Amino acid sequence: MTRIVFVAHDGARTEVEADDGDNVMRAALANDVDGIIGECGGSMMCATCHCYVDDAWADKVGPRADGEDDMLESAVCEVRPTSRLSCQIRIAADLDGLVIHLPESQT
Ligand code: FES
Repeated sequence: MTRIVFVAHDGARTEVEADDGDNVMRAALANDVDGIIGECGGSMMCATCHCYVDDAWADKVGPRADGEDDMLESAVCEVRPTSRLSCQIRIAADLDGLVIHLPESQT
């Protein structure tokens, strides 16, 4: 299990335990974290799983997947250098303690 910390737009923090091999979007939904919708189920056909990787974790999480840039263009909130589709961030032990910031809205 790997710990993921979600930080809501208002600063509220929610720490969850997630299965390695799963993705950050599914970890949020499984733990009722508000701020991630994941409308397409993780097939990169929406942008309702938009999140911001904390600056301290950006290198470790790595670059966007192919096609992620295009889909992020439909994100409702501002896209930043650390913006990612959370369904494309695979959870692994080396991400233990990963901090994910949530946008103000997904719709
Ligand atoms: S859940 Fe739709 S792109 Fe991530």
